[in-house]
Amino acid sequence: MPNSFKLNLLYRPRRLRRTAGLRALVEDTVLRPENLIAPLFVVDGKGRPEPVPSMPGVFRYSIADLVKECRLLSGLGVRAVALFPKLDSALKDAEGTAALSPDALVLRAVGAVKKAVPEMTVATDIALDPYTVHGHDGVLTPDGSDVDNDRTVEILCSMAVLHARAGVDLVAPSDMMDGRIGAIRRSLDAAGREQTAIMAYTAKYASAYYGPFRDAVGSAKAAGTRSLDKRTYQLNPANRREALIEVKLDEAEGADIIMVKPAGLYLDIIRMVRTATKKPVAAYQVSGEYSQIHAAARLGWLDLELCRMESLIAIKRAGADMILTYFAKDVAAELRR
Ligand code: PBG
Repeated sequence: MPNSFKLNLLYRPRRLRRTAGLRALVEDTVLRPENLIAPLFVVDGKGRPEPVPSMPGVFRYSIADLVKECRLLSGLGVRAVALFPKLDSALKDAEGTAALSPDALVLRAVGAVKKAVPEMTVATDIALDPYTVHGHDGVLTPDGSDVDNDRTVEILCSMAVLHARAGVDLVAPSDMMDGRIGAIRRSLDAAGREQTAIMAYTAKYASAYYGPFRDAVGSAKAAGTRSLDKRTYQLNPANRREALIEVKLDEAEGADIIMVKPAGLYLDIIRMVRTATKKPVAAYQVSGEYSQIHAAARLGWLDLELCRMESLIAIKRAGADMILTYFAKDVAAELRR
């Protein structure tokens, strides 16, 4: 039956959605493997990669396997990694002493990656949570009720200098202590490391979505809970303006890259920060964001490939220049196809 019903429309947006060619022509957010930073977990010893049960497809690598993984990533166009050590619990104490060991696992890992894959950009976390028995990012006040800001910053400065000397391109303070960016910048400069850049975890929220990461680095196990309460230093998820205060401070203190974390649930913050700063903006798609997509895919409820791509495009569209994501390798491979 011929359809005689015709709308008299001047504009028909569907015209530009008609073919793949037209859709590609008008696509405004482009994700490249080079925009991705792969977070990688490293353990001591020569064992096989240990799967992280709450993060399908994520492993803790020996240094030898870490190097292999970096080669693979580099071949796929992922040119940056963020390294996270998982320490033997015997090495942890209340003060996170192992963080300042000149032979620390992460330092050896950085050296090995830089030697074998020199073109790889390497970032390391500056915080004490992999090193403390309580799983907090710093040392505690004498009564144990809170993280001691200034004493923690002093340790983080030494840690940053050690990492810089080991050859990292970016130190990434993820601890959320006040004043740490400026203090770390001054320490790096005093140590002759003025070329080491700071990727500041600027707006890092106190999120429950860090749970699987805490399994991966063992901070949950050390503390006996994944629900570590970091609300006296990480931002309240209910707050928006506070992120701008942190941006102002980190910029003034000398941050080279401004980060928002988590990413997918904080797209409004990413957009706001993008507008507020001229600095490059990074967003961290955290472990829980990764795990929930995998979990739903395992149940057959969501399509893994489509959802992971959409999640990353959304983060890029919100204004992130670069994205830390556990999907880095798989998505880079997909982008190459
Ligand atoms: C700790 C740190 C955390 C993450 C990166 N660095 C967790 C926390 O604050 O407890 C989370 C990353 C993720 O969930 O993927 N300094």
